[in-house]
Amino acid sequence: MIQSKLMTRFYFDGQGFDAKSDETVLDTLIREGQQVNYSCKKGSCKTCLVKHVDGALSTGSQRGLTLSLKRDHYLCACQCKPTSGLKLKSVLAQNLFTSAQIHSKQYLSDSVVKLRLKSSEKINHCPGQYINVRRFDGLTRSYAITNDPLDGFIELHIKRKYNGQFSDWLFNHASVGESLLLQGPWGNCCYSTTYVDDDISLIASGTGLGLVYGIALDALKSGHQGQINLYHGGRTSDDLYLHSSMLQLMLAHRNFTYHGCITRSQSKEALSMSRVQLGDPFDIAMMYFPVQVKPDSKSRHRVYLCGEPDFVLKGQTSVFLNGVALNRIHVLSFDYKDLRSMSRT
Ligand code: FES
Repeated sequence: MIQSKLMTRFYFDGQGFDAKSDETVLDTLIREGQQVNYSCKKGSCKTCLVKHVDGALSTGSQRGLTLSLKRDHYLCACQCKPTSGLKLKSVLAQNLFTSAQIHSKQYLSDSVVKLRLKSSEKINHCPGQYINVRRFDGLTRSYAITNDPLDGFIELHIKRKYNGQFSDWLFNHASVGESLLLQGPWGNCCYSTTYVDDDISLIASGTGLGLVYGIALDALKSGHQGQINLYHGGRTSDDLYLHSSMLQLMLAHRNFTYHGCITRSQSKEALSMSRVQLGDPFDIAMMYFPVQVKPDSKSRHRVYLCGEPDFVLKGQTSVFLNGVALNRIHVLSFDYKDLRSMSRT
């Protein structure tokens, strides 16, 4: 009895649930054994979307959603604190996903494949955003978009992960013509023409390169005037999977410079590759940063970071301490990658 007073009763698909005081809607549904989609629990991946039917919505329930999703009463179950009598309902996949097919597959290295997807409806996006990809059995993952929307395709760089159920399927088994579902795009780690005179550092690890490469192309195509430095980190030179494209881009644009950064000592041959240095991409990038004691709002420096969460967090701290204001640091962290089609047990 005392317990129920501390609980907040809300309704999902007509069924009543009692949330504990520190729980979100998603937490309660998971605890109650409901089959719900979720992954990041941070409001990033948007796989936990549900619809608002009635009752008061807690602040932040719709944070990060597009205007049209807000207008259509969607919210993130992981960001919603239940209020008494709140009524929510589940959503059908077809209301959120667009059908698409694999248009082409190109292997960029032994472990990275480039996919071009053609969607049935036009998807407006920019390089720097990400999209959720769902296959026939409901398994879903998120990937960074690497191209601009003008050619009508969605381009993704997929790294085959050890034991990666989805990435291995895309890399080895999915064929051209394979049907997929797409949800998104999300995120705003994009270039803007208002940055035209800024000096930009693009720092990425692994397939984060695809995203920063797309941003570099977008900036150069928009007539960017400031200097652009792109740092790509990998363990060995084999991980620098767009090395020759980067060199060509350098030749074509006097304000674009590429730095391949490898962290594992290799043969002299590997290290003699043009523009490859031994070292952490942040340590190498810092060598080119103007040294400032504290973040300077007048600085023309702007930084984009993309890769695994640890890498991005380390980079954010590092560039902030080197004088780049937080509003000039743009990040896309791969912490939304582990999307589930079923609830975790
Ligand atoms: S947005 Fe809710 S689980 Fe990712």
